[in-house]
Amino acid sequence: MLTLGILGSGSGSNMQAILDAINGGHLEARIALVLSDKPDALILQRAAKNGIPHAVIECAGHRNKFPQTTQQETATKLKQAGVDLVCLAGFMRLVKAPLLDAFPSRILNIHPSLLPAFPGVAAWEQAVNAKAKETGVTVHIVDSGMDTGPIVLQEAMKVNAGETADQLHARLQIVEHRIYPLAIGQYGSTIDL
Ligand code: GRF
Repeated sequence: MLTLGILGSGSGSNMQAILDAINGGHLEARIALVLSDKPDALILQRAAKNGIPHAVIECAGHRNKFPQTTQQETATKLKQAGVDLVCLAGFMRLVKAPLLDAFPSRILNIHPSLLPAFPGVAAWEQAVNAKAKETGVTVHIVDSGMDTGPIVLQEAMKVNAGETADQLHARLQIVEHRIYPLAIGQYGSTIDL
């Protein structure tokens, strides 16, 4: 069975959606490990509540950097847990070698825009500020760039007139929660286990 490792820095609503899809019989997979760079992140509490092994990624006091040694340790933890596919779900640090090399084309990310438009933080705010008529959600394979890499699944959504960034984000998250499990299932079925 497809074994997932999930990395997140925030509320973990996408992790929850993946878990719900598994428990609901819509995604044939298991979550073996949840890791977060934020010790107090809700994603870790959700993992604990659901009996999923979880741990903190210690970034040696760096606010945004994901140090090489920490990436190596993260790769080791994921390998030891038997992870086939790593899913970034609101993980706020850039993944580079050696983690990328340990999981070549085996790391997915979800991003709340129609990439390549609006990469980076607060994509929903970027869309509202740019007065975009349309935005969406993208699931892509992670490469060494920021929100680049081959697209697995994308869904477009209209931006409503007068919509605030928060309102747009809330609507985007509903799409995220639906398409991330779908994309994991689709992409996961192409992986040799
Ligand atoms: C999501 O909107 C994701 O696309 C973005 O960060 C947010 C994480 O939300 N990169 P959650 O932690 O899954 O609730």
